[in-house]
Amino acid sequence: MTRARWNRREFLGRSLAAAGVGAGFAIGGTKSSGRILGANDTIRIAVAGLNGRGGSHVGGFGRLPGVEVACLVDPDSRTFAGRIKQIADVYEKAGKPAGRPPATEKDIRKALDDKSIDAVSVATPNHWHALITIWACQAGKDVYVEKPCSHVVHEGRVAVEAARKYNRIVQHGTQSRTESRWPEAVAAVHSGQLGKLLVSRALCYKRRNSIGEKPVTSPPHELDFDLWLGPAPKQAYHANLVHYNWHWFWDFGNGDIGNQGVHQMDIARWLIPASANAAATFPRSVISIGGRFGYKDQGQTANTQIAVMDYGDTQLIFEVRGLPTPKYHGVDVGNIAHCEAGMVIQDRFYPKGKKDPVPLAQVVKVEGRRGPGKGHFANFIAAVRSRKVEDLNADILEGHYSAALCHLPNISYRLGEEVPYSRASSAFGDDKEAAETLERMREHLKEDNVPLDGLTYRLGRKLAFDAASESFVGDSQANELLTRPYRAPFVVPEHIG
Ligand SMILES: NC(=O)c1ccc[n+]([C@@H]2O[C@H](COP(=O)([O-])OP(=O)(O)OC[C@H]3O[C@@H](n4cnc5c(N)ncnc54)[C@H](O)[C@@H]3O)[C@@H](O)[C@H]2O)c1
Repeated sequence: MTRARWNRREFLGRSLAAAGVGAGFAIGGTKSSGRILGANDTIRIAVAGLNGRGGSHVGGFGRLPGVEVACLVDPDSRTFAGRIKQIADVYEKAGKPAGRPPATEKDIRKALDDKSIDAVSVATPNHWHALITIWACQAGKDVYVEKPCSHVVHEGRVAVEAARKYNRIVQHGTQSRTESRWPEAVAAVHSGQLGKLLVSRALCYKRRNSIGEKPVTSPPHELDFDLWLGPAPKQAYHANLVHYNWHWFWDFGNGDIGNQGVHQMDIARWLIPASANAAATFPRSVISIGGRFGYKDQGQTANTQIAVMDYGDTQLIFEVRGLPTPKYHGVDVGNIAHCEAGMVIQDRFYPKGKKDPVPLAQVVKVEGRRGPGKGHFANFIAAVRSRKVEDLNADILEGHYSAALCHLPNISYRLGEEVPYSRASSAFGDDKEAAETLERMREHLKEDNVPLDGLTYRLGRKLAFDAASESFVGDSQANELLTRPYRAPFVVPEHIG
């Protein structure tokens, strides 16, 4: 086994400039630096965003044969040493040669300028996802981008345009497409053998504590906060932004529906059949209701939320609960497909009226679709080598639709008004499933000792959506929120021409 022995200077990381890479990557430029990869060529990856999920990227790619984590990118240089050590350990465990230690960069544009980098994997905060994806495609790199691939709806579409225009392989980090039994459940539901899908339910019951209030301070000297902000509006630093808690601020995150929830949203949408072998894309309408209950803190997004989307025969209902709560039909974070014949929960089927499940495979015999490669990272690498978009289990187009489905309810919610429960409870009209979901949410708040007397909910605006134009019908305020103001030079273009 080869021990990754990197000396102290190497261990602390090289910069690409020191490694002889020229500067001058043009933002919005179109030059392609993608190499043509032979079957035995090593794929050199830059991992952008190292604090949390970046560790899984470093480990996941590092252990794959024929893959080198060649560059680490993060505006916070405190993240470098730990990840370099991790790579050395991963290589050693995998029996891979130590090679050279990865370069380290604070600015993604430097990594994109390096022609020896074949692919970029993105584990930054959400507001950076689409822009890095687009820039990387323009620079001729393939991309593995974390979920949600967009921070606002429109930039997801532009990321798809960039992937197609520059013939790039772009995988979305919704790994349940590869690493769960949902592909078989989706095929079973789409087969029609369980009757119509009536409700595609997604649950994100995940405890989220108060983040308190953090005062404005100067950023740590190791952090280039301007780069961290990137496309987001310039603002003062506080420790609730860096790291992780940015999820709960609209400028950077999308609340839990667009955090943990995007995995379940992806499955919920995928379960809804549109035509032979195709999942539904956008709903006809959306409405969302909720609030940030149980504590007062600096966070802005809902910690308790219901979203209802109309797909004709099927309703997609999403429930977020950040306060402690019991499971629903044994599920806390997951999906339930309510079909005419019964409920599907991954590989289990609960026939209508029966308490106990039977294996789904006994009831419907179908095969789930999965592309090559064991695991989601390996699936991406297999597609990078084959150059076939159809080998991907979570192509960027699927990512765009599923990420967008998290943004639509948030737009409804943000355009809503604070109302007492009596008004909120009539919001869903004669929609029994939605009303029942809201009543359960109210019970849940009561059990968590949230005083209901005088409690107000944010009742979102009911919005009609047109899938063809990917815009709301007759609501200019809602359409404005499909995109965002960008801070030059960190601008997602209107379109990729
Ligand atoms: N697929 C999954 O199961 C899964 C799990 C966890 C997180 N995620 C996703 O991963 C992403 C990161 O989440 P996290 O919890 O690690 O967040 P985090 O805040 O802990 O880490 C993000 C890192 O990105 C860095 N960063 C910011 N701007 C950057 C830029 N321009 N270039 C390079 N790095 C930059 C930050 O400095 C930080 O180190 C999120 O989008 C999240 O949704 C996915």
